[in-house]
This record gives sequence, C-alpha cells and structure tokens, in this order.
Amino acid sequence: MGIGHANTAGFVHGGVVMRLCDEAAGVAAVRHCGGRVVTAAMDRMTFVEPVMIGELLTCSAMVNAVWNTSMEVGVRVEAENPRTGEKRHTSTAYLTMVGLDDEGQPTPVPPLVAETEVERRRQREAELRRKNRLSERDQILAHREAKGE
Ligand SMILES: CC(C)(COP(=O)(O)OP(=O)(O)OC[C@H]1O[C@@H](n2cnc3c(N)ncnc32)[C@H](O)[C@@H]1OP(=O)(O)O)[C@@H](O)C(=O)NCCC(=O)NCCS
Repeated sequence: MGIGHANTAGFVHGGVVMRLCDEAAGVAAVRHCGGRVVTAAMDRMTFVEPVMIGELLTCSAMVNAVWNTSMEVGVRVEAENPRTGEKRHTSTAYLTMVGLDDEGQPTPVPPLVAETEVERRRQREAELRRKNRLSERDQILAHREAKGE
C-alpha cells in the first residue's frame, strides 16, 4: 500500500480494501463458473484493524456456497509488514456474485462440492447469511405494508 491509498488519518482507505476484495472475489467466482460474473452485493465487510501505508496486502478468496445463479464468496485480508514478515488479519468480506451468460443475463452456475469439514462449515454459514438476508428483506417489506408505505 502506497501513499496514494491513504485516507486523511494516514491509514489505508477502507474503499481501497473493498475494491481489492471485490476483485479477488470476482476472480474466485470466475474460476468456479468459468464464465462472466457480476457483483450483486457486498453483504458484509468488517475492518478488524487498520492497514498501514507500506504494508503488503493479501486477499484470499473462496467460493463458500452456490445457489442457482448466485454464489457467496468469502475474502480474508491479511496485512504483512515486509520488514519483519509479521502478518495480521485486517478484514473479512462476503460478496454475492452472479454468473452471467453471453447476453449479460443471470445464468446457472455449477454446483459446489464441499469436501472438507472447513468447506462444509463455510457452506453452512453462507446458507445462514443468505437466510438472514432474505428474512430481513421480507421483514422490511412486511413492515412497509403494515405502515401503508
Ligand atoms: C445482479 C443482477 C445481475 C441481478 O439481476 P436480477 O434481474 O435481479 O436477476 P434475478 O432476480 O434473476 O437474480 C439473480 C440472482 O441474483 C441474486 N440477487 C439479486 N439481487 C441480489 C442482492 N441485492 N443481494 C444478493 N443476491 C441478489 C438473486 O437471489 C439470484 O440468485 P439465485 O439465482 O442464486 O437465487 C443485476 O441486479 C445487475 O446486473 N446488477 C448490477 C451489477 C453490477 O453492475 N455490479 C457492479 C457494481 S458497480
């Protein structure tokens, strides 16, 4: 991270980290489905610790779960002090990516085969986040209807 990535407090701007997460998630999704994808939503982005100018960022992205045309990709961000080699976990993000056909329309993506216990846990937790997301949307719609909005 260089000075062009800084915010006014002198740390790395959160938007820079978000962009890198979006790009890493996009690559993981394209590798999984072998076609075009688009970001439908960034569902969660946590900033655990600030990133300093001069640190090296690594974004590790993995497809956690696949539904019909959409998939959830988790991204873990680590900052490394290149002088000492010390690494810190600084962010986690969850993004929903949608597979697109040649006309740019949502298209089914290949199923995910979770092989390890960790992969199965990530898949379960992704299902939980999707369930919560859909339930939140339903609650908001019901609330608006009740208020006549
Ligand atoms: C994402 C997009 C393709 C979805 O189009 P759509 O007409 O809503 O398509 P559908 O209703 O068929 O939904 C397609 C999938 O996206 C999911 N989806 C749509 N909106 C979503 C949202 N806000 N959050 C999470 N998932 C969403 C749906 O659940 C569905 O998943 P499923 O097939 O696995 O069940 C469309 O909204 C789009 O092109 N958005 C702009 C994307 C973009 O430009 N991204 C770059 C950021 S600038």
